[in-house]
Parts: sequence; structure tokens; C-alpha cells
Amino acid sequence: MARRHNPYVGDPATRRARSAGYAARSVFKLEELDRRLGLLGPRRRVLDLGAAPGSWTQYAAARVGRSGRVIAVDLVPIAIELPAWVTTLTGDALDIEGAVAQFAPFDVVLSDMAPKTSGSRVRDQELSRELFVGALEVASRLGRPGSSFIGKLFMSQAFSQVREAVAGLYTRCRVMRPAGTRPNSAEVFLAGLELRLGAPLPGR
Ligand SMILES: C[S@@+](CC[C@H](N)C(=O)[O-])C[C@H]1O[C@@H](n2cnc3c(N)ncnc32)[C@H](O)[C@@H]1O
Repeated sequence: MARRHNPYVGDPATRRARSAGYAARSVFKLEELDRRLGLLGPRRRVLDLGAAPGSWTQYAAARVGRSGRVIAVDLVPIAIELPAWVTTLTGDALDIEGAVAQFAPFDVVLSDMAPKTSGSRVRDQELSRELFVGALEVASRLGRPGSSFIGKLFMSQAFSQVREAVAGLYTRCRVMRPAGTRPNSAEVFLAGLELRLGAPLPGR
């Protein structure tokens, strides 16, 4: 049987990530977001939603060091070896708050969650919006005042509404598309910086 061609296997970014010991090329997106926003550093507590196969977790763990903590959650198990200050949890990130709350408050909440693509662009956009808003809710409940949030979103007509939800919760809101994003990808990252004290929960 003929193998399906995957244009990204062995692309330069994937090879670079692998040779640096990272589980995925997505690490370069977080590296850029961190460099531009100054998110991560020693002693920070980080919640990483949609963490498998684990490159963001690897990067965050290295940046926070043993004085910090990283909690990584995904629907599928994270199979790579990680340092002792990382806890991995398997489950739906939007329905696992009880297990995660014991590690709160977080300084940084990351969401690289993406739906399984369905073949319908509109459906995928809606699923992505639901994941983003769910992650934002988790971040607003479990983040400490002054904390940061980064979430991935597929661009859609709902974008302005979602950005307003971020701007309502955080003092500063940034829209970013890191250089590591594939050219044909509809994804953007929305960053909320400085969670407001007593931030109201966003409406779905
Ligand atoms: C692009 S991958 C994340 C890559 C990861 N940041 C890395 O660097 O290795 C998106 C992940 O989101 C996860 N995901 C999607 N919906 C989820 C949910 N409701 N709860 C937890 N994880 C979810 C998928 O299982 C998938 O592993």
C-alpha cells in the first residue's frame, strides 16, 4: 500500500526541534511568545493545557526550573520523560479542574489545544473557539491576579468577541502569530497579560 505523503515530516523546523530533544516543532512558537512577552522564569507555576506530545511542557519546565512547577494536561497521555517538577494529567482540560485546582494559583496558563479536524472549516472554528473560551475560563479561575494567559484560536468571525473576552479579564491583550506557524494555518495566539483582580467570568 502506498504511504500517504506528509509534507512536514523532516521539515527543517521539525528536524531542529528533534535534534534539540523536543517532542514537537511547536516548541518554537512558545519560545517566541515567551521571548516577546517575558512569560516564563524561575519559581513560576505553569498550567499547560493540550500539552501532548510535550514540547511546550519541556520548554516551560526548563524555563521555570526546579523552583517552579508545571502541570501538563491532555486528552492523550504524555509519553516523554519530564523533570520531577512536572505533573502530567490525562483527561479533558475543560473538565479536570478539580484535579488541577490543588496546584493553583498559576502564574501562567498556556493553551495550545486544538480540535481534531472534522473536514468542516466552520465546525473546526467553532470547536477551536470552545476550547479557547474553556481555557480562558480555567485561567481566570485558577490564575493568580497579575497572571498571564496564552491561548490558540482558529481565526473566525467570532474572533472580535473572543478578543473582547480576553480584554475584559486582563489589563493587556495581544494577538500574535509566531514565525513557527505554518503558512497555511488559520491559527493565531491571543495573550492576556495581568489578570485583573476579581476578574468576571467570560460568557460562552
Ligand atoms: C497542537 S497539539 C499540542 C502540542 C503541544 N503544545 C506540544 O508542544 O507538544 C494539541 C493538543 O490538544 C489536545 N486537546 C484537544 N482538546 C483537548 C481537551 N479538551 N483537553 C485536553 N487536551 C485537548 C490534543 O489531544 C492535542 O494533543
